[in-house]
Amino acid sequence: MNILITNGRLVDQAGERTGSVRISDGTIVEIGDGLEPQEGEEVIDAAGLVISPGFVDLHVHLREPGREEAETIETGSRGAALGGFTAVVAMPNTDPTQDSVGVVEFVRQQGIRAGLCDVFPSGSITMGRQGEQLTPFAELAEVGVRLFTDDGNGVQDPQLMRRAYEYASDLGVTMAQHCEVESLTAGAVMHEGSCCSHLGLPGWPSLAEELMVHRDIELVRLTGAPAHFLHLSTAGSVALVRAAKADGLPVTAEATPHHISLTDELRASYSALYKVNPPLRTMDDIHAVREGLQDGTIDAIATDHAPHVSESKELPLDQAPPGMLGLETALGVALAHLDMPLADVLAAMSWKPAAIAGIGDRHGRPIEPGEPANLTMFDPNETWEVVPAQLASKSRNTPFVGVPLTGRVKHTVLHGEVVVRDGKALK
Ligand code: DOR
Repeated sequence: MNILITNGRLVDQAGERTGSVRISDGTIVEIGDGLEPQEGEEVIDAAGLVISPGFVDLHVHLREPGREEAETIETGSRGAALGGFTAVVAMPNTDPTQDSVGVVEFVRQQGIRAGLCDVFPSGSITMGRQGEQLTPFAELAEVGVRLFTDDGNGVQDPQLMRRAYEYASDLGVTMAQHCEVESLTAGAVMHEGSCCSHLGLPGWPSLAEELMVHRDIELVRLTGAPAHFLHLSTAGSVALVRAAKADGLPVTAEATPHHISLTDELRASYSALYKVNPPLRTMDDIHAVREGLQDGTIDAIATDHAPHVSESKELPLDQAPPGMLGLETALGVALAHLDMPLADVLAAMSWKPAAIAGIGDRHGRPIEPGEPANLTMFDPNETWEVVPAQLASKSRNTPFVGVPLTGRVKHTVLHGEVVVRDGKALK
């Protein structure tokens, strides 16, 4: 398929310029002003739109295999494409767990079959995510797994985690830690602070996250292996990662759209829609996380897209599962809540996460001839509100209803094929 994208505002790691982009057989072949359509070319008018390298999400729960009633790889990939993502890293808390080559290959194949977004399966750090026995890192690395995580849980045992970092440093893979010391969060449903004591609900202290961030920074110092910190939510965590980077340690971090936009006060509604792990924090934490993104302490915006069926979110707060949808609203939340140059927001949504995921040779590439055509086009000024019934996700648990969003994805091109056009998925 040959495509001509005309008159867009191109923004990538090389800076900003206007122009048209010609794509042939999956590759960008020409960039220039006033390119004329050739016979048989599909034309996309990008006037008023930003053309960016496709977004890359380091953190999505696609629920397949095991919980297909909440999401499938196909429906999650469709949501991703509509959100402007051309690549996502699938978290391993599936059933069975992504702890073997067989399950990892299944997830990858389902992604290829859907053909809406490249799906890169992560592997779990421990078998069944039970925190006891390491998975076969070398075998999983051999089939392309680059990120390992027990996300949903942190690895509690420091000795086991030390071994994980030691093996990782030999294999060139990255450990991605969900930072939560579970003995400090037992029974907790929300951030520990004035809000939770007021409601009489057990609290989730910032310390539970920060202790593990600190432990893993010290394990990185000891082993030299890289670490990526998932969904950081507290001011203290941001400060720890900032100091570790200043020490030259190979650490990276991500923050979610909900941790830069929603505070724990929403929980006063008692609605499980706002229950998430780690919990929504205070305005001071939000400011610190935003500052972390602004100064590069936090490298990436990652959604932690966590679909759950409505019945489970209607359970009492202590029984309802944590998690929120994120893929289709990520850009709109980021542009509405971050006071940063557009190129820096795109860095956090595209080329920086691509590098962390080990896919920087294919995704988050500069918009130049010879590069793979994985592109997103969006209107940076459109304001809109999410309508849950219109989401591509199988689940409806978005916390952003009634929250004004800025910036809307119009078209997504994956491997030179238009998969989203005028805000509609084409398959
Ligand atoms: O809120 C969350 N939901 N945080 C996690 O770490 C796991 C996720 C899920 O799988 O639902």
